[in-house]
Amino acid sequence: LKIGRFAILKGDPMYAAVVSSFDTAPRYAQIPTPEPDGKDEVLVDVIAAGLHPRVRSQANGSHYTSSGELPLVPGIDGVGRASDGALRYFIASDATIGTMAEQTVVDLRRSVVLHEGSDPLLVAAAMNPAMSSWVALRRRIDFRPGQQVLVLGATGNAGQLAVQVARHLGAGRIVAAGRDAARLANLSRLGADLLVSLGGDREEVAVRLGEAAGEVDVVIDYLWGEPTATAMLGLARYRASDKPLSWIEIGSVAGPTAEIPSAALRAHRLQIVGSGQGSVSTADIVAELPLLADAISAGTFEVNARAVPLAQVTRAWQEPDGGGRVVLTPGR
Ligand SMILES: NC(=O)c1ccc[n+]([C@@H]2O[C@H](COP(=O)([O-])OP(=O)(O)OC[C@H]3O[C@@H](n4cnc5c(N)ncnc54)[C@H](OP(=O)(O)O)[C@@H]3O)[C@@H](O)[C@H]2O)c1
Repeated sequence: LKIGRFAILKGDPMYAAVVSSFDTAPRYAQIPTPEPDGKDEVLVDVIAAGLHPRVRSQANGSHYTSSGELPLVPGIDGVGRASDGALRYFIASDATIGTMAEQTVVDLRRSVVLHEGSDPLLVAAAMNPAMSSWVALRRRIDFRPGQQVLVLGATGNAGQLAVQVARHLGAGRIVAAGRDAARLANLSRLGADLLVSLGGDREEVAVRLGEAAGEVDVVIDYLWGEPTATAMLGLARYRASDKPLSWIEIGSVAGPTAEIPSAALRAHRLQIVGSGQGSVSTADIVAELPLLADAISAGTFEVNARAVPLAQVTRAWQEPDGGGRVVLTPGR
């Protein structure tokens, strides 16, 4: 069996989620245990691994980092223990041997030791979605306490955490915009000052967003596609100040491309930047892990997680996630 660079696998068999085709969900199967290579790699017993949208795009081959290589074990991050006994959060270093397995190989330089007593389920559920806004605000723009933030697409796991992360990092007024009415309503409790529904007529949405968020300093954008074009038109129309506006593209759940109105760029000090793997270096992402892990472990953020046994990976893939983040835990 050849899985990525793990061409000579001679370890004992272990159970893992295995993707053999980009068209079908992973299945629970036995593969040889991968072997660490070099002084920084260790074998880790996985305790929890989150089923993030990024993992779905890894498993169906659509992520921009996909090499097209199969088979693969999905999972981009997780919580587990190496032979030193320490509880760690880690980011997978290999795109083909991921974290949805009983054991995986971890490069210690891409891991952080968690306080004993940290809840592996919460950390595995929250690190990826929370990191999206945390890293964007701390590494991609010069964010200052008191600045106003619009979270565009605030009802997903990352969006709900973005509202809380922005509050935690000292944002002033926070506007949360989303489609799902019930989850949107819940965001007031989590720190949003103003809620904007993205439902209904495009022109009405532009007006609503313009009135509510015309003067924000930062947009944290999980949507892209048509809603982003609408939001940009709305904000541009209502914006009176000449202060800079940083628009951070983080996700694209509403479409991979968006029509950017040229007038918005000419009329305002609008800068569009992206935040993710590549636009933020791995070293910078890893440098943010300890503080964020501490905040999550301390219960700073409300996190919605649901544990599912690894043996049920195929079902977990096919079922709607029901809003909470599915976390796979080895075993039946
Ligand atoms: N760049 C990074 O560093 C980074 C890190 C983490 C995540 N991400 C990306 O961020 C995005 C969100 O991640 P997540 O973990 O929050 O996913 P999630 O929990 O699955 O949430 C996605 C949300 O998007 C909403 N949505 C889908 N289409 C929409 C539309 N047309 N208009 C408004 N809302 C829409 C859904 O709301 P409904 O309930 O209305 O369907 C759902 O709540 C993904 O694209 C992910 O890949 C990026």
